[in-house]
Amino acid sequence: MPDRNVADLPKVELHLHHEGAAPPGFIRQLAHEKKVDLSGIFRPDGSYDFRDFAHFLSVYEAACEVLTGPEEFRRLTLAVLEESAANDVVYSETFLSPDFCGGGDVAAWRDYLAAIQDAADEAEAKFGITLRGVVTCVRHFGPEKAKAAALCAAETSGDWITGFGMGGNETVGMQGDFAWSFDCAREAGLRLTTHAGEFGGPESVRDAIRKLGVERIGHGVRAVEDPDLVHELADRGITLEVCPGSNVVLGLYPDFSSHPIARLRDAGVRVTVSTDDPPFFHTTMRREYEMLNRAFDWGAEDFAALNAIALDAAFCDEDTRERVKTRLEKP
Ligand code: ADE
Ligand code: ZN
Repeated sequence: MPDRNVADLPKVELHLHHEGAAPPGFIRQLAHEKKVDLSGIFRPDGSYDFRDFAHFLSVYEAACEVLTGPEEFRRLTLAVLEESAANDVVYSETFLSPDFCGGGDVAAWRDYLAAIQDAADEAEAKFGITLRGVVTCVRHFGPEKAKAAALCAAETSGDWITGFGMGGNETVGMQGDFAWSFDCAREAGLRLTTHAGEFGGPESVRDAIRKLGVERIGHGVRAVEDPDLVHELADRGITLEVCPGSNVVLGLYPDFSSHPIARLRDAGVRVTVSTDDPPFFHTTMRREYEMLNRAFDWGAEDFAALNAIALDAAFCDEDTRERVKTRLEKP
């Protein structure tokens, strides 16, 4: 008998793009305030409109055009965290791109970050959710822009900005082209993750480990196509930030039942569950849990194990980890 209450469990989310979590109504409101015509990126029902992955990325970037300053990011952060908390997320890591927050200028980035942290403090007090930031470069913006993002990350590395990673179009360039940026971030004490094995095959996951030295992989699910790589991921204890609903909407798999998350888990790979860009993919953390429960009959124990892995792989300090652990154990 499927456990219908899994959606209520407290949750840890490791893979969330800050701008990608913007509700479409929030972006429409900003467009209205700024008199920017963004009608082309919405469907008649008000949701984001895109055909495929490349088009998704361009709609995403169009939405970012109205996120023009620290105040917009303060409002965005409050809206995103209210929604995450409503989904019983108790700890979240968000991807923040200096490219969309000051264009890679360190002084401007500091202003955006101050506003985001301020809102995160307010949301923690109001909604009880803890947020940490992972700075990301955007792969299709190229290695030079990535260096500027890495320098922003290095300058603000600490208890709150705890990691560095890369999103964007995985079919453009190679992971190794970004080695300088990942080395820079590592030297500044940041933990590392990158998108791989989403639109790239198993070789992109191998490259991510060998060329960038990451300890987590965004998605990584296409590793399942190579049994040797699956063993390697399990042996090395690499954590996958799996986003099943995102993968289904972007056409990697036809439905949850065909998704490889259960096969990867059963092969000993450390899998976690996240939403990626929830309003774009018509999902929430509650829905991800419900769909996994229906597809694989995962129950409370399975999700508790999944959250324990996610918390272990979180890039936060040990005091924060202990605090969140208590929230998971005694919701
Ligand atoms: N940026 C936002 N969402 C993304 C995804 N699913 N893959 C790569 N880059 C992204
Ligand atoms: Zn992502």
